[in-house]
Amino acid sequence: MTPDLLTDIADTFGTPTYVYDLDRVKEQYNTFKSAFPWPRLKICYAMKANYNRDILATLNELGSGIDAVSPGDLAMARSCGISISNIIYTANNITDTEMHEIAATGVLMNIGSLSRLKRYAEAYPGTRVCLRINPDVVDGAHDKIKTGGDLTKFGILLEDVEQIKEIVREAGLKVVGLHEHTGSGLKKPDSIIKAMKQVMSVATRENFPDLEFLDFGGGFKVPYGPDEAPIDIREIGSRVTRLFSEFCRDYGRELGLWFEPGKYLTAQAGTLLVRVNTVKQNRHRTICGTDSGFPQLIRPMFYDAYHAIENISNPAGMPGTYDICGNICETGDLFAKDRDMPEVRENDLLGIKDAGAYCYAMGGTYNLRPMPAEVVVEKGGFRLSRKRLTPEDLVALITGESATPARNDFNTQTRPDAA
Ligand SMILES: Cc1ncc(COP(=O)(O)O)c(C=O)c1O
Repeated sequence: MTPDLLTDIADTFGTPTYVYDLDRVKEQYNTFKSAFPWPRLKICYAMKANYNRDILATLNELGSGIDAVSPGDLAMARSCGISISNIIYTANNITDTEMHEIAATGVLMNIGSLSRLKRYAEAYPGTRVCLRINPDVVDGAHDKIKTGGDLTKFGILLEDVEQIKEIVREAGLKVVGLHEHTGSGLKKPDSIIKAMKQVMSVATRENFPDLEFLDFGGGFKVPYGPDEAPIDIREIGSRVTRLFSEFCRDYGRELGLWFEPGKYLTAQAGTLLVRVNTVKQNRHRTICGTDSGFPQLIRPMFYDAYHAIENISNPAGMPGTYDICGNICETGDLFAKDRDMPEVRENDLLGIKDAGAYCYAMGGTYNLRPMPAEVVVEKGGFRLSRKRLTPEDLVALITGESATPARNDFNTQTRPDAA
């Protein structure tokens, strides 16, 4: 997305605004797909990364399935026309009520604890199910997004296979899939292979005779920082398919090879446009205040994540060092600390890059500031995907009643002729 295009979008829709390049999403999907030459490859986009409706519709058109993790995810996917047979449901720590609601839709459930499996087996004997296995491989870009190993809450431990078998046998369940997800932003490509081998070690015909697929989750890293290189997805794809082909030969049937990429498909397609409203000299620091904040893009505060920031208005400005902050009443409300970039001036437009995954989707309305608008770019043009709510819209959503516009109140009180 060129600076001119982004400037045009900011001028049209204001800031803060998320912009998603749908052509980039398609490119990432096609690159991923062609890297895994397996006839029964299935990509289930992890919609937790970004549930924007235009992104979901675009991926659906390309043939992608969906990994959903909540009733809200499921409702959103269905509202975008995604069929139930194209969705896997991987929630964790669900209630019985949620289990029954989800089971009633007919979606394939991916169960990650013995306790839930027992309750599912009692309620739905003889049905098809997928099981989430903890691969016992520890990797991920940050401790908070490592999902393998016994320090995390996810999946059934490999050593519990005999207990799984007993529950499955008693209820006549059909285990059609085994699943694992090691973590997000896997640092070592070898972790993908190691985790696959761990699942394959229990995915024998003797243990699970009804398997139709193995699902190896997501975690494919994208480069965020200036020193990070892109992963070699083709190399990973050929190692994975070779290993999977050997496994299927031993298992005696060609199974589906499933993945659930999130970041890989959408992270690099997104930019958050923010406007600088305050530049302040705090002795040796230059603080730039913007019109967004951490509830609208939490990754830097939550994971110490790095996001490149472009000064779209002043790309050739004198180099300086800046703290790029938000408008929220919290000290940690920073998008970047000590960031070297071209001179930042009040009213400059900044683009926070690689903001297409776990940014809008992890957003909230702390301090009661509505989330940014969302705009999509496709084939050189752009359109509004979701409008920014006003503070009054937000209050109406919370209270269920329409709110009095604050500005009108203010005007009524201060206009000399109001009384
Ligand atoms: C079960 C599951 N699948 C897939 C993903 C997607 O991970 P990523 O966005 O790193 O590809 C996640 C996210 O952590 C997940 O929890």
